[in-house]
Amino acid sequence: MTRNSSTLAERPTCPKDAEGNPRIFTAARGARLTDSAGKEWIDFDNARGSVVLGHGDPEIAEAVARAATGAAGTTTGWSPLLDTVTGRLLALCGGEVVGLFRTGTSAVRAAVLAVRESVGRPLVLSSGYHGYDPMWYPPRTPLEPNADGIVDFFYDLDLLAGLLRDRDRVAAVVLSPDHMHLTPSWYARARALLADADVPVIVDEVKVGLRYGPGLSTADLLDADVWVVAKGMANGYPTAAVGGSRTLLKPLREVSFTSFFEPTVLAAADRTLARVATGAPQRTVREAGERFLAHARKALAGAGLPVELAGDGSFFQFVAATRELEKALWRAAEDEGLLFYRGDNQAVSEAFGPDVLDDAEARFTRVCDRLAPYASDVRVSEEARYQAAWNVIDGLRDAERDDRTTREWISRLLDD
Ligand SMILES: Cc1ncc(COP(=O)(O)O)c(C=O)c1O
Repeated sequence: MTRNSSTLAERPTCPKDAEGNPRIFTAARGARLTDSAGKEWIDFDNARGSVVLGHGDPEIAEAVARAATGAAGTTTGWSPLLDTVTGRLLALCGGEVVGLFRTGTSAVRAAVLAVRESVGRPLVLSSGYHGYDPMWYPPRTPLEPNADGIVDFFYDLDLLAGLLRDRDRVAAVVLSPDHMHLTPSWYARARALLADADVPVIVDEVKVGLRYGPGLSTADLLDADVWVVAKGMANGYPTAAVGGSRTLLKPLREVSFTSFFEPTVLAAADRTLARVATGAPQRTVREAGERFLAHARKALAGAGLPVELAGDGSFFQFVAATRELEKALWRAAEDEGLLFYRGDNQAVSEAFGPDVLDDAEARFTRVCDRLAPYASDVRVSEEARYQAAWNVIDGLRDAERDDRTTREWISRLLDD
């Protein structure tokens, strides 16, 4: 498959080779993938962090196979599984009601539009990626509302404070939490600002929800009125959920779609939610990720390679001092069969047992050997750290800034 030979109209995010052509995978098991040339990879992408339990997890596969025979309900109508899934979501994430969707994009969009309709004010203040939908497209002039009334504050809390002065026009604040580039003090200040303004808060936990523990990753950091989760809830099966206040989410009553009751998806969600409710998969992910991180830091330092690692075992990111080194890192990793999500967050799965980790570490040591020509005393700059954060959160990392430098960073990173 080459970039121009596909009949697919979309260009979905997926691993690609150096020429930009999609890599073709023919099998996936646990932490390992096989490509069409028979090469075996260790998967740190995991469908952008949505395969938490590992590929082809036996319990999920068995539940999905059973549901596919018709033994667990039907797409035609309501099934017991539906109530089990909504019950599990409310127990884990809180709230009065839950809405189900097929993608994170559609769930966040529906949540924001529902809250705006309930509140009856025109503007929504936003930070972070919320999906490909045009409603999130940037305006011509940064910090102004776009055509859909969305104002991006790029995680800068001084900008948020300024925008909240106009709070009579603000229906809600929606933000995608991150735990690699935002600090506990950022959350403490955001929480106080939002409480003071008294506007509804929507947390887009599509990516981070249920990955850090059995619930919202911001349960102790923010007071959300509405939440959205997706990647942590069905091990890669297509579903997402919105939950929270019955009053704010009342407009979701109008939502329906033909595949609503499709039983294989509900079965995958039911089993995945039961597993993540124990906290065990998240602990394994964290510990496996931490072990790999410790090895990677040591190997990079030993080879004199200026690459920092942001985040922790749950999600982490390589921050290279130069673009050349970053490119060389992806190339060397791919030669060694380590499948990283280029420029973005790396996500191990529960299937990263000791044998996979031994193998991944040996491969990473060889990656560092290959990168010997890039050894240098250069340090990772603020610019590189800002760029790395921007790649993953579409906004500014938490750091000391004044208004002028905030605006400079925004225009620089938007232009890049
Ligand atoms: C924070 C966040 N919100 C929304 C989305 C969109 O979700 P989906 O790709 O399932 O449509 C993503 C996807 O990565 C995300 O990370």
